[in-house]
Formats: sequence, C-alpha cells, structure tokens
Amino acid sequence: MINAAIIGLGYIGKVHLRTLLRIPGVKVVALAGRRREPLEELAAQYGIPKVTADYRTLLEDPSIDVIHNCTPNHLHYEVNHAFISAGKHILSEKPLGRSSQETGALAKLAEEKDVLTAINFCYRYYPAVQEAAVKVSREELGSIYTVMGSYLQDWLLYDTDYDWRLEQSFTGSSNVIGDIGSHWFHLAQFIVGSQITEVMADLKTTLPIRKKPEADGTYAEYPVKVEDYGSVLLHFANGASGVFTVSQLAAGKKCAIDVQVYGSQSALRWNHEQPTELWLGHRDKPNEVLMESPQLQQAESKRYALLPTGHPMGYHDAVYNLFTDFYENLHLKNQGKALTIPLPDFWEGHREVLITEAILQSHREKRWVRVGE
Ligand SMILES: NC(=O)c1ccc[n+]([C@@H]2O[C@H](COP(=O)([O-])OP(=O)(O)OC[C@H]3O[C@@H](n4cnc5c(N)ncnc54)[C@H](O)[C@@H]3O)[C@@H](O)[C@H]2O)c1
Repeated sequence: MINAAIIGLGYIGKVHLRTLLRIPGVKVVALAGRRREPLEELAAQYGIPKVTADYRTLLEDPSIDVIHNCTPNHLHYEVNHAFISAGKHILSEKPLGRSSQETGALAKLAEEKDVLTAINFCYRYYPAVQEAAVKVSREELGSIYTVMGSYLQDWLLYDTDYDWRLEQSFTGSSNVIGDIGSHWFHLAQFIVGSQITEVMADLKTTLPIRKKPEADGTYAEYPVKVEDYGSVLLHFANGASGVFTVSQLAAGKKCAIDVQVYGSQSALRWNHEQPTELWLGHRDKPNEVLMESPQLQQAESKRYALLPTGHPMGYHDAVYNLFTDFYENLHLKNQGKALTIPLPDFWEGHREVLITEAILQSHREKRWVRVGE
C-alpha cells in the first residue's frame, strides 16, 4: 500500500479525498487542516486514523508516502517545500506558487530529492480532451492555425461576493488568470502539443471596491487589487495564433471552459458544458460529434474512457484519471522502473506561472511579452 495525507480539506481537498478512496493500492492515513473538529468528523466518516491542525507534525511521519496539497495559494510553496525536503511525493493544487521564483525552486528541489510531482490540472483527463490531443498529434487537423476559447464563471458577479482569491496576500499577484486562466492555457497547450511563447494581454478589475462580510452580518468595503477579467492574444511555438477570455462575472456561466482548434484540414472544439462530446469541423463534408467511448476513441486515449459508450463520465472521473496516472507512475518508481506515463509535473506548474507572469507584465507594459523573458 501507498499511504497518502491530504492537507487543506475545503472544496478541492474533499474532491481529492473522495477520489483517493477509489484508487487501488492507496490508503488515506492523515488529514491536516486549520481546525481539528471538522477533520475529526471527516476522519470518522471515512475511517482515517490521524488528524492534525498543524501539518508540520506529518513531516517526520515515516508512514506517509504522498502529500496532497489542497491549501490556498499562499501556502503552496511553504507546504510543498517542507514535504519535498522531507522526501515525500507531492500532488499539489494549482497555481504551484505565487511567483516563478517560488515555482522554479520547487521544481528543482523535487528533481534533486527525486520525488514524484504532479499538479491537479484535471480537465485534460476527460476522455474527449485526450482524444482531441491524439487527433492533433496525428495531424488529423493538418497544421494548426488558430487556438481560441474562454473560461467563464459568474460567482464573483456581485460586489457582495467574497473569497480569499480576491486578496493578494492569499491569492498572489493574479486572481482570474492564475486561477482559471492557468487551467485554460494548460488545456490548450496539451491539446495542441505546443507551448505558448508570447502573450499580449488586457486585464481588468471590474469591481475594484467590494464588500467583505463581517461576523455581525454587515459588510466592510475593501479595495480589490487583482483582476477578475482578462483577454489574452497568444503565439504558440508551432506557429499557431490564439486568443482566450476569462471572467468570473459572466452571468449564467458556472464552469464554462471552451477550447477551439482550427487547422489546415479540419477543426475541433471541446466545451466543459458538454464534456463527453468532441465537435469535429469539416469544410467539405458534414461536421461530426464524437462521444467519449472506449469503442470509438483511438488506442492512445481510450484508456481514459472508463465506461461503455453512452454512460457519461464527469469531473470526479477526470480527477480519478489523473490520480490513476500519478499512482501508476509511483508504483513503477517504487519498483525502480522507468516512468512511462506523462504527468502535469512541477516543471509544467512552473511554466504556467511563467505564463501568468508574462500576461501580468504585458498588461502593465501594454506590449507583447515573451514567456520567461
Ligand atoms: N484543480 C482544480 O480544478 C481546483 C479547483 C478548486 C481549487 N483549486 C485550488 O485548490 C486550492 C484550494 O482551493 P479551495 O477552493 O479548495 O479553497 P477552500 O478555501 O475551499 O479550501 C482551502 C482549505 O485549506 C485550509 N487551510 C488554510 N490554511 C491551512 C493551513 N495552514 N493548514 C492546513 N489547511 C489550511 C482551509 O481551512 C480550507 O479548508 C487553491 O489553490 C485553488 O487554486 C484547484
């Protein structure tokens, strides 16, 4: 058995917990959070032996092999650094850190300590997205001309909507680009198999003054320094051009991710509102919709389609596919074998932070910026 601990049991920490319970050969042995009481309830429900309100007490625990870091952004560096130094493998939440200085140091340290790393860039693990990447790699679309899309949400529409993601001390220097933008550009780069090299950005803090709820039911005004909207022009290494828009003030849109790829022969589109479908666009014959399917997908992607055709997989299953790849790699590593399954590792997490920084710089300086410039 491989023993895992989860740190931070908010929204995504509970997704990690529910998903880990499905992974064979893995046991959740500890939960760490800010307060013990809610963790004790969870631990009792799921039969987890250990809870702690101080994650540092897990550092020297020899029974723990893997850490799932699900804390807010400001703790990613501190927690990842501490556990990598202690020789633990890490599956971390995104963004990997608040600056490329932090994330570059983490990726390097993980390499030196020879620990396995991954970031929960889960959307690429939908079977239809995997199939999209296979189609591009097999040149079924021809040369890639254009990559376009958006990631839209509405949970920050009103000035009374509040979250730690709006405060720089927790979120870092970017809100919407680092939070959901990073998901979009990770996905776009994965599908087209090519990196974003240059960006030109227009960002906005639509509501610069918001109302933060107080304990007595009233609100306190506070200034917001981070963006809640962004549109970014892109250049890719393969010569493609692109553009994406992200917003958390798009009424009616909850988790609407859209990626469209146009090539010299045909096109494709994946949309998270219909995640089991892959739209295929043609000029000289009728368009098609491919439904996720172990029968209809190609050899390289069908292992992610776990259910018979017509039975839709979902968000938990995408996370499950990522975790399965991570733990299969860890089993290989523990047996001293070569790691054969690609993962969104800490170097990829570092790269997404470099893209976020280039986008912020481009907006400040009103010009194209090379990633890592
Ligand atoms: N991959 C994804 O699709 C995805 C989705 C949601 C969130 N996230 C990322 O996950 C992270 C957490 O987001 P969330 O939405 O779950 O936030 P959240 O606020 O719901 O949960 C964060 C949890 O961390 C706990 N915490 C705070 N300080 C801690 C400490 N010192 N030690 C241990 N626990 C501590 C909080 O008590 C809370 O339970 C963020 O970095 C976010 O970007 C990723």
